[in-house]
Amino acid sequence: MQTKLTINGKSHNLNADTRTTLLDALRNHLGMTGTKKGCDHGQCGACTVIVNGRRINSCLTLACMHDGNEVTTIEGLGTVDDLSPLQRAFVAHDGFQCGYCTPGQICSATAMLEEIKAGWPSHVSADLNAEIALSDAEIAERMSGNLCRCAAYPNIVEAIRTVAQGGRT
Ligand code: FES
Ligand code: FES
Repeated sequence: MQTKLTINGKSHNLNADTRTTLLDALRNHLGMTGTKKGCDHGQCGACTVIVNGRRINSCLTLACMHDGNEVTTIEGLGTVDDLSPLQRAFVAHDGFQCGYCTPGQICSATAMLEEIKAGWPSHVSADLNAEIALSDAEIAERMSGNLCRCAAYPNIVEAIRTVAQGGRT
């Protein structure tokens, strides 16, 4: 089946079986291996990408469902010479060890900061009508879909907090 996808601003015509997940389409059909496959069933967040501005697990969705959609992967957030603020912060704060979960963590955090700007409350927000204070508990809750087997969590939280507070790294 033909599916038109805009990935990191570039148009792609995907020709793949209708059962192909977005994750497999990115990695196996389009050669974009920045997005990682961990569990392949929605439990780890390693495959997180941003579709039309919202973070999703790309292993849980079929590529053909995204005809005409805009997809952003880790490759689209920054370049080696021009890292995104979160990419820089993860490096500066040692927000990874093996790095396998990192593309998903950074895609997820990028969309999560936009959710906060838009005023979306989380399960741990004390007051649904007040401005969201980005406590460590808020960050942990909002990033709970992204597991890190190396347990770099304290540094991941620190990196995200730094960017959320407008700090430079
Ligand atoms: S690979 Fe998609 S959630 Fe684990
Ligand atoms: S840095 Fe190794 S899994 Fe997160």
